[in-house]
Amino acid sequence: MIDQKLADDLKKRAKEGDATVFRSPELKSLFDEIKTLPPEKRSAFGQEINKLRSELTELLKATQDTAEALPPIDITAPFDVNTAATDRPQLLPSEIGSEHPLMTELSAVLDIFYRMGFTAVESREIDDDFHMFGSLNFPEEHPARDDYDTFMTTQTDKNGKQLIAPAHTSTMQHRVLKKYKADLESGKPIAAVIPGRVFRNEDLDARHEHTFYQLEGIYVDKGINVGHLIATLQTFLQEYYGKQLEVRTQPFYFPFTEPSFEFTLSCPFCDKQGCNICSQSGWIELLGCGMIHPNVLSQAGIDPSIYSGFAWGGGIDRLVMMQYDVEDIRHFESGKLDFLRQFA
Ligand code: DAH
Repeated sequence: MIDQKLADDLKKRAKEGDATVFRSPELKSLFDEIKTLPPEKRSAFGQEINKLRSELTELLKATQDTAEALPPIDITAPFDVNTAATDRPQLLPSEIGSEHPLMTELSAVLDIFYRMGFTAVESREIDDDFHMFGSLNFPEEHPARDDYDTFMTTQTDKNGKQLIAPAHTSTMQHRVLKKYKADLESGKPIAAVIPGRVFRNEDLDARHEHTFYQLEGIYVDKGINVGHLIATLQTFLQEYYGKQLEVRTQPFYFPFTEPSFEFTLSCPFCDKQGCNICSQSGWIELLGCGMIHPNVLSQAGIDPSIYSGFAWGGGIDRLVMMQYDVEDIRHFESGKLDFLRQFA
């Protein structure tokens, strides 16, 4: 039998967080005692010591758990809720903050797409050559790469290619197709919208900014055609502007769609009469779109002989500028309070 007082002493030390109990002469002496016992008593005594040792481990662990737990945060700090408003600290006066107009508009746009069955996936602000170009069917050295005025970093990825600040939200197409392709096999379409901040090395003026926002859309299923593309965008725009609109498509070129289009709508502000928003033409060129190129689908592991889909990408800043008659795109990133307060 282990001496009760010795066992209690050891437990007390463990409870106080003293990890040296395991190396203590007292514990060692118990192990030494085994050898002095007659063989038939050794096993029972050994088991008793092991039991004591695991109790000590438990006790010590319990003290460490409480030591590692972070102190609770008093959410009423640093003032008592009963303190008069005038005596409270003036940190973070949230009542004078407001949402940025681009974000307000983006929420309105996303709400419509949620109601149309789309899910939203956010893009990222640093990406690689493969997602910017390779996965989107831009061959190496192809001149179409130059159209995107892409900012490159000096850092490189694992293939030795420079990392980039994405110049469009299409960089997410490959990821989204891969992420949701299992849905296709279970009979569900891929329907995703991707809002994101994008960057271009542009000459800046009232219509061009180095940083702006885009919304990308992707839809893939069996038997999808251009009619679905036009109907989806027209439905969205009519919902957004709250009126019937006419739409047109003109042929265009993007490496990642075939065929590709520029999508134009009848001016919702003057109903084709001509105004300053549509430059008196009655029509507004709004976004790029097309049927997803078979190479883009197959790179993501989707068989283009079974599935087809459409995609589009357009600027959020442009929508807000038209909606509120904002004359200069550079206001959005300027942080000018007199501009922002008009939307508060
Ligand atoms: N990424 C293109 C741009 O920024 C816009 C675009 C065109 C996106 C066609 C698409 C698309 O998804 O299918 O110029």
